[in-house]
Amino acid sequence: MIVGVPAETAPNEKRVAITPAVAEDLVGDGHEVAIETGAGEPANYHDEQYEAVGCTVLDDRDTVFEQADIVLQVQALGAATDGIAPYDEGQVVVGLLGPYDITDTQLETLSDQSVSAFALELMPRISRAQSMDALSSQASLGGYQACLLAAEELPKMFPMEMTAAGTIRPAEVFVIGAGVAGLKAIATAERLGADTRGHDVRLEVKQEVESLGADFVELDLETEGSGDEEGYAVEMGEEFYAEQRRQMQRVVPESDVIITTAAIPGRPAPEIVTAEMIEEMDAGSVIVDIAAPTGGNCEPTVAGETVEHAGVTIHGPTNLPSQMSKTASEQYANNLQHFLENLLGEDGNIDFDFEDEIIDSTLLVHDGTVRNPHLEDGVNETPAEEAATDDDEPTPKTQATKEAEETDAE
Ligand code: NAI
Repeated sequence: MIVGVPAETAPNEKRVAITPAVAEDLVGDGHEVAIETGAGEPANYHDEQYEAVGCTVLDDRDTVFEQADIVLQVQALGAATDGIAPYDEGQVVVGLLGPYDITDTQLETLSDQSVSAFALELMPRISRAQSMDALSSQASLGGYQACLLAAEELPKMFPMEMTAAGTIRPAEVFVIGAGVAGLKAIATAERLGADTRGHDVRLEVKQEVESLGADFVELDLETEGSGDEEGYAVEMGEEFYAEQRRQMQRVVPESDVIITTAAIPGRPAPEIVTAEMIEEMDAGSVIVDIAAPTGGNCEPTVAGETVEHAGVTIHGPTNLPSQMSKTASEQYANNLQHFLENLLGEDGNIDFDFEDEIIDSTLLVHDGTVRNPHLEDGVNETPAEEAATDDDEPTPKTQATKEAEETDAE
């Protein structure tokens, strides 16, 4: 197979879909790798490193698309203004396709191009797919980066210290949503010495939060049915969220830092922190709303911007993993490598085995049709409780659990 890797075109995207290490393995397995010149530069991987492991570095972007049997990308739809890349009939495309936001026109274009497009966001959370789960590998980095951003900006230290000049009280960090990103943010805040609390509607994560050394904030809510087997939240009614906000009113103002990560796949982020709560926080406090790309968990959040409300700074980052482009690319490229191993099988040929849940779930467009039955008009219409229908054992929060266990062992 010829694996093509074009440079990323989305604004501020510094990740690259393949690292020299993964390229070397692919070449070792008998594939060819063609990469656009400079594609790895933003992640500090240079053309010479790719050449040294046997890749062909091509100056012309279109030639990468022309030659490739399989195109590997990070943000496959690239810059919105660019439209769809010049894929060729029969080509396989693997990347983050934004399946919940993709427009009908974009889907039509992909179908017309007769490509087979795999959206990694649709990866099932099962044991076998863990090594290919790009959303989790990137969210974990997002949680880490969110915590560092808050620590840098807060006009207070995170750890408690007893000094000759007096005792420094630890910063109060509150993380809302204890999934992959949230647990990583909690672990990072704990390591920096903050007094950390976490909250989630799925009470099964309480133990994970506590095993990281943080306190779990349990609200008096009817949480029955708030999560599915894969460890994702299910959308609750507006009455539920109104009650959650009412009870949050007493918890939020006690925090110096709030990191919000609450998410429901394919749905807008629930609003949990109101402007009124923020007005009760100390001036200089910091909020990092990781859920900004899907609308944010805080009322004043603006995606891609930093705003101030009542003296509190609210960040709405949209691509935190890209800020750690080298590690993020490494993790992402490893995810792709495992995905390709599964797709290509032992003989190195593409096998569209629809009995394989990984292929069946992630293959968004194939043979001129939009084939993912969970998507209708670009929105995931499948109730989350029906989403886990496989024979594989679900592994809710596998990375997060690992993190908790490691901290326990320490
Ligand atoms: P996840 O699904 O593992 O975790 C989300 C958590 O939120 C779940 O544990 C869920 O139970 C919880 N939750 C849902 N509704 C809640 C509510 N009302 N109250 C409290 N908790 C609630 O998702 P993951 O992978 O941790 O990602 C979190 C979010 O971060 C996603 O929206 C993702 O797209 C986003 N993200 C953003 C990045 C950025 O640069 N801004 C980078 C990476 C991820």
